Amino acid sequence: MDILEDINSSPSPYHAVETQVKILKEHGFKQLNEKDDWDLSSSGRYFVVRDFSSLIAFVNPGKNSGEIPHIRIGGAHTDSPTLKLKSKPLKFKKEMLVWDIEIYGSPIITTWFDRDLSLAGLVGYLDGSGEIRHTLVNFKNAITRIPHLAIHLNREVNKGYAPNLHEEINPIFGLINKKGVETSADNSPDIIFKSLLKKQLLENKNDQQNDIQILDWDLSFYDVQPTILSGLDKQWIVGARLDNLLSCFAGTRALVDYAQKGGKNSDTLAILACFDHEEVGSVSSVGADSNFAESVLRRVVPDQKNFDRAMAQTRMLSVDNAHACHPNFPSKQDESHCPALGGGLVIKRNNSRRYTTDVISGSWFKALCLQEGIKTEYFSMRADMPCGSTIGPMLSSKLGLSSIDIGVPTWAMHSIRETAGVNDFKDLYKVWKAFYGSQK
Ligand code: CO
Repeated sequence: MDILEDINSSPSPYHAVETQVKILKEHGFKQLNEKDDWDLSSSGRYFVVRDFSSLIAFVNPGKNSGEIPHIRIGGAHTDSPTLKLKSKPLKFKKEMLVWDIEIYGSPIITTWFDRDLSLAGLVGYLDGSGEIRHTLVNFKNAITRIPHLAIHLNREVNKGYAPNLHEEINPIFGLINKKGVETSADNSPDIIFKSLLKKQLLENKNDQQNDIQILDWDLSFYDVQPTILSGLDKQWIVGARLDNLLSCFAGTRALVDYAQKGGKNSDTLAILACFDHEEVGSVSSVGADSNFAESVLRRVVPDQKNFDRAMAQTRMLSVDNAHACHPNFPSKQDESHCPALGGGLVIKRNNSRRYTTDVISGSWFKALCLQEGIKTEYFSMRADMPCGSTIGPMLSSKLGLSSIDIGVPTWAMHSIRETAGVNDFKDLYKVWKAFYGSQK
């Protein structure tokens, strides 16, 4: 399945966007730069990337700006909970070099123990001619791990262990003697890190240009164990970052396949929008709370009156994973709104507007699922527990468009290895593709 390769190629949001770009380019999508003037007078396939980690791709119907396109937006997020490097990423602890990390989003921390971890993300550097450049880097190999304390040293561990987040979860890099590393006469952690990063960067770039200077980085750890199919008859997808790369890639594949068929309806402006920083609230220049989506939409529909008329008939899928019913923890979920993993696509509802689903969007989406023969399930939180949210509410409220929150039922969300159903993922892809061609 493409989805396994797509996820395994995407250890960071930057790599997720790079993987999406590769798929889009293979299907004839052309890159637009926000700094340029865009000529969208003819039909075409385009994508825009902001700061390497958020992407908007669209199939432009090519109507004159005097006409109003049907707009269909499918949205998701490129980031996942992880451990990120701090500005001074290495330090000594008892003669060992350890990584200094910041927790990003809300991972289930204990699942990060005893995993083989690598490092990936974006690096900024000065090249030989003094130009500031950015490039993706991926160490690929397992270079570090966070070992558990042996049970003999914590006999109470199975009664519940809450690690101290500052002291007890540093990934360990290894023993460094006072002579330092081979690459440098200086053994300060900062120098060690920069020479390590420079070496990896040159290796990844396959570039022998040595006179570069590292400026900054956004690097996060990831588990090198790949995403796989698991369970009887391989009914599950198991791996990292399923929240929300399953949705990013279902959407990417849906858009390119929709575009390949020429689009059922040439009046439709079909859009895929994937944003970074959802796991930390979306407030950033690239998050769903930024002007990215609106800015792209306004360039496609520049006339204010037409823009308002277009928004009034725009529909959006806000796609993010949903909590599947967990047979071992039945009391944690509303027993009658508890979707079975493998039981169909989930419609999420929260009338305090943590999700966008309402009677309007619930109707058009249900009609689409009926037409496509897609099974749906419903999710609502227990009344005595707070509800999560995602990109839908902020986009829908900013733009005034009709939106529904849906997703693939998933176990162990925010674990380093999550589980989702193969058939549910296929349903998501199918309904997403149909959505781009839908009129009803
Ligand atoms: Co999510």
